[in-house]
Amino acid sequence: MFFVDLDFSLVLKYLESSVNTKRKWQVRYEMLEAQSMRGLKRNGYCGRLTTDDAGREVVVMGWVQVRRDHGGLIFLDLRDRSGVVQVVCDPASPEAFAKAQDVRNEYVLAVTGVVAGRPEGTENPALASGRIEVRARELRVLNISHTPPFYIEDGVEVDEGMRLRYRYLDLRRPEMQRQLALRHQAARSVRDFLDSEGFWEVETPVLGRSTPEGARDFLVPSRLNPGRFYALPQSPQLFKQILMVAGVERYFQIVRCFRDEDLRADRQPEFTQIDLELSFVGEEDVISLTERMMARLFRDTLGRELPLPLPRLSYAEAMLRYGSDKPDLRFSLEIRDVTDVAASCGFKVFQAAVAQGGVVRGIAAPGAGSFSRREIDELTAYVAGYGAKGLAYLFVEEEGVRSPVAKFFTAGELAALSGRLGAKPGDLCLLVADSGEVAARSLGALRLHLAQRLNLIGADRFSFLWVTGFPLLEYDADEKRFKAVHHPFTAPRDEDLPILETDPGQVLSRAYDIVLNGVELGGGSIRIHQRQVQERMFKAIGLSMEEAREQFGYLLDAFEYGTPPHGGIAFGFDRLLMLLSGRETIRDVIPFPKTQSAADLMVRAPGPVSAVQLRDLHLKSTMPVRPE
Ligand code: AMO
Ligand code: AMP
Repeated sequence: MFFVDLDFSLVLKYLESSVNTKRKWQVRYEMLEAQSMRGLKRNGYCGRLTTDDAGREVVVMGWVQVRRDHGGLIFLDLRDRSGVVQVVCDPASPEAFAKAQDVRNEYVLAVTGVVAGRPEGTENPALASGRIEVRARELRVLNISHTPPFYIEDGVEVDEGMRLRYRYLDLRRPEMQRQLALRHQAARSVRDFLDSEGFWEVETPVLGRSTPEGARDFLVPSRLNPGRFYALPQSPQLFKQILMVAGVERYFQIVRCFRDEDLRADRQPEFTQIDLELSFVGEEDVISLTERMMARLFRDTLGRELPLPLPRLSYAEAMLRYGSDKPDLRFSLEIRDVTDVAASCGFKVFQAAVAQGGVVRGIAAPGAGSFSRREIDELTAYVAGYGAKGLAYLFVEEEGVRSPVAKFFTAGELAALSGRLGAKPGDLCLLVADSGEVAARSLGALRLHLAQRLNLIGADRFSFLWVTGFPLLEYDADEKRFKAVHHPFTAPRDEDLPILETDPGQVLSRAYDIVLNGVELGGGSIRIHQRQVQERMFKAIGLSMEEAREQFGYLLDAFEYGTPPHGGIAFGFDRLLMLLSGRETIRDVIPFPKTQSAADLMVRAPGPVSAVQLRDLHLKSTMPVRPE
């Protein structure tokens, strides 16, 4: 009863705010029955009623999707989580009929009535319950509603800010309800699978310690420890390794992670990982287990069979052939190297690049032979954004190759170039001469751009790929030191250990990434499990012994108490759901996501705090408090 009173007092408070609204709401308010649910027991779901229910008296509850007044008859589409059913009110039930005249969209109703087949010719094949309707005997208004700021229906065109502000209305839309259901099913599938494989779900702390490696941390000030801060976990990486030291052997967690990064369509400041770790395993064990997990998940959620094993590519090959460590293999459009042909040609630009140790690589864009000069200029500007100094192009035609730079090549060289790129008449060859890195990066981006532009990406395709053989370290020119490509707990390949100090850039790691449709879906590795190796790794990334001890002393200590060989992986759960449901952004699969500027528009977070709160936390803000 307390809750009912509370609701009403909120409604009343609102009424006081505006005279006009007040009058309107008073009328509506009178429609509410004080003890609205008394004597009613829901015994049917709107979307589940079928002709099998014909003749049955049901009590259905839900929201008014739409009301149609046909004079003598009023039709209400009533929606609950299961779908929509048509309710018919006729003057034969005068009380229900009278109420039906006043209900509006999103009113919450309980309808008691008899299920009946619809008259011939009025069936609605678009509706699961389209062959029946509920003839209302009693109609009770359980709650009233403002006119929603947007339609509660699929495909509604509305500003995302509005959707996020009124997320409770947005989530009422059937497509969003399907997202919530999918998320639930996917999590259950993963849990069931990992449980059957002997994994234990273990929780790890949310209040942890800040470590400088990786992305920026979210910090939480400690009231009880003035001047000290917790950090929210970027991932449970070290705790899961500690769990291996603790003898858990098989751990998993569907876990929230926090990273204070710049946001993109597939990045949120808080996101969910399917995180796992196993002891006494090598790469193949982790890979084959996660492949089976993925296959099970596809079966459970989409009813699709995933052909196993999934394809694999080495990092070096991925960079060479696709210009990316997360290539989208839904289309081919491969990059080919023509450095050898270019080296001996008469085109100065190519010669110079090769002479400086660079490469010449290119792509044949199928059917792009009709591109105009302006379109090619646009492509040139596009690759310039990725550092390419130019874009040479050749039109491949039945009669031969046409190009402004054709005069610098012999006929044989032109044929070799277009042949190497696999170009057919009607295609356009696009070439970049630059350092290997710039050529890969710019052509990789061009490849994706062209695939969009030429419509080469088949819909409803799932193209998985493992990428292995990553470098362990990469040089950071700004910081003038090597950094871990994955994280500093990733093991180097045994055979590369001897050159860790002498030639760090050449060491390959035991990491593996899983890519789906060009999105990095997950990543993991076999870990370092011996103290000496971990210390060498810290040294390789420029951590002094003191710094290493200060930040990771507990791990180094733990390594001295019988740490088993171990490895694992973490999947981006939100990214997975985004791809499963063919969405463009992970915001659509997260119940309450943040905007691009990391704000929650509904609860208005982040928000200001009081001076007292700051004082308790021993904090002083240097920012003036701006109005929101
Ligand atoms: P990594 O940092 O690669 O590895 O993260 C694993 C996966 O998490 C997803 N992900 C994100 N999703 C949404 N928003 C973000 N900001 C975001 N950042 C990452 C990606 C990514 O592949 N501890 C290691 C895993 C391991 O080694 O076992 C880790 O966190 O899909
Ligand atoms: P230029 O000699 O600079 O007038 O360039 C002649 C053609 O070569 C133009 O189509 C340029 O876009 C192209 N080009 C210039 N630099 C490069 C490069 N590094 N790689 C590929 N093409 C280039």
